[in-house]
Amino acid sequence: TVKDTNLIKIPKVHDERGSLAVIERDVIPFSIKRVYYLYDVPSDSYRGGHAHNEQESVIIALSGSFEVIVDDGTSRKRMLLNKPNQGLYIPTHIWREIDNFSSGAVCLVLASTTYDETEYVRDYNTFCHLKGEM
Ligand code: TYD
Repeated sequence: TVKDTNLIKIPKVHDERGSLAVIERDVIPFSIKRVYYLYDVPSDSYRGGHAHNEQESVIIALSGSFEVIVDDGTSRKRMLLNKPNQGLYIPTHIWREIDNFSSGAVCLVLASTTYDETEYVRDYNTFCHLKGEM
């Protein structure tokens, strides 16, 4: 459910030269198979609009900010991501949408699977129907 989407604090080392965040060991609750990122995103852009049968993700606002909507078919919540040392964990079978990108926003996604279009659910009604059967 949306309650299983939680914010992960990424350990950082901060000194007068700046901050260094580290993702290693069990910071991410799955082994990372793929990393992709969105950039040059127009502020009125809408991304996501899908769920996954296999993929777990952690979404990080590496720069700037954006909002992520997570939806389990019954309830939804909207979360602002604006800290490079914070990740939003999204398990399988959760619908997600991303909007309200700030200028210069970079959205990093750590994924548990390689890209496979067949494990996407891209239709919201199909998603709700599948959830109803689970
Ligand atoms: P899309 O799923 O629409 O992106 P988002 O979820 O951010 O809105 O993907 C955009 C295009 O990129 C689509 O044609 C599929 C392709 N793509 C890959 O080729 N590899 C990948 O790892 C990802 C995530 C997408």
